[in-house]
Amino acid sequence: MNIGILGLGTVGGGVVNVINKNTKEIERRTGSQLNITHAAIKNLNEKTICPTDNINLTEDAFEVVNNKDIDVILELIGGIDFAKKLVETAIKNGKHVITANKALIATHGNELLSLAKKHNTHLLFEASVAGGIPILKSLEQGLGANKIELIAGIINGTGNFILTEMRNKGRDFADVLKEAQELGYAEADPTYDVEGVDAAHKLAILSSMAFGCKLELDQVSTIGISQIEGEDVSYADELGYSIKHLGIAKKINGQIEMRVHPTLIPKKRLIANVDGVMNAVLIKGNAVGNTLYYGAGAGSDATASAVIADLLDLVNGTVNDGTLGWKELIEFTTIETGSVESIFYLRLIATDKPGVLANITSTLADHNISIEAVVQKQIDSLNNAHIAIITNKVKTAEITDAIKQIQQHEFIKDSVKLIHVETLE
Ligand code: HSE
Repeated sequence: MNIGILGLGTVGGGVVNVINKNTKEIERRTGSQLNITHAAIKNLNEKTICPTDNINLTEDAFEVVNNKDIDVILELIGGIDFAKKLVETAIKNGKHVITANKALIATHGNELLSLAKKHNTHLLFEASVAGGIPILKSLEQGLGANKIELIAGIINGTGNFILTEMRNKGRDFADVLKEAQELGYAEADPTYDVEGVDAAHKLAILSSMAFGCKLELDQVSTIGISQIEGEDVSYADELGYSIKHLGIAKKINGQIEMRVHPTLIPKKRLIANVDGVMNAVLIKGNAVGNTLYYGAGAGSDATASAVIADLLDLVNGTVNDGTLGWKELIEFTTIETGSVESIFYLRLIATDKPGVLANITSTLADHNISIEAVVQKQIDSLNNAHIAIITNKVKTAEITDAIKQIQQHEFIKDSVKLIHVETLE
């Protein structure tokens, strides 16, 4: 197989380096060599992170996807529109495509997969979710006997790095984000990381692979981490929780719920201890129970490892010829956000005077919400009490309504903060 790479940046360069480093092992596994013949790069005068001596380089990516001698295209340039044109052209030219592009797959995966089927080619994207962790292959192969009940994942390294640094070092949100950008973890547009867009892309892909349904990115309800303050991190800690930015997908009574949001997780859970840029995905199957996958969610060699795993499947002829790992996809309905049941953390800032807490708890009681834990941590210089509450499991619509009422009191001094809690039992 002759391979053409689009982009020799962090991921593309990593692919060349890992293939060079592990040539013998790859040959022993496949019985053949992975032959990278062509690569398209942005600027021929720019230095790449990998050797390019035996690769024909060009600045014209279409030259690579239209080259008749190339069998497989690795799309590793990222972005949506230009990448989509290249992938479509490659597929129409009868080539297999491997991509690490979660935005492209989550947004246009359904049509690109149909196109690939029509042209008898494969479109593979293991590297698009959780970098080096072979999570899609685990869902498709190792967990294939199960009905998947729950996915809960830390699937954005940048967000996890920010929350970890805030908790461990009391650092400022903006300051940590800047460092994540400098270290090359963040997306080109860092709001994708911070506002949960990147995690939503990955969760949409995970859900489709897990439940055997089409990609439905617009059904993922998404909340970012930009509203998390140091005070929430330390309250959570005091109450026995870590705050993580989780992607959660559940199948309940035939309906699917997909959400990305900051989440309080009991500190004793393994996933609550996944720190820094690392990713982890918990998958619960009805036969196997809970399983947990941990590893580098980004980075050159780690992501390359997943790209090359797809290449090995192609070379060995072990690709599932269904769609998203299924021979038959089903339609599904999504649970409306208001009907999603969850435990919640609330943080309120209120004037410190008699009856305030009673008033708050009575509004919660009116909505059938009971309180599992409460802390009143400090009275600030303005004579305000800062109160954190953990509720029981309630419908999102109920808690939202209760907060609307509580917010109207003149003794409430700031917006009430609401964060999901997941026990992950
Ligand atoms: N920006 C992404 C992250 C890169 O931080 O996880 C890997 O998809």
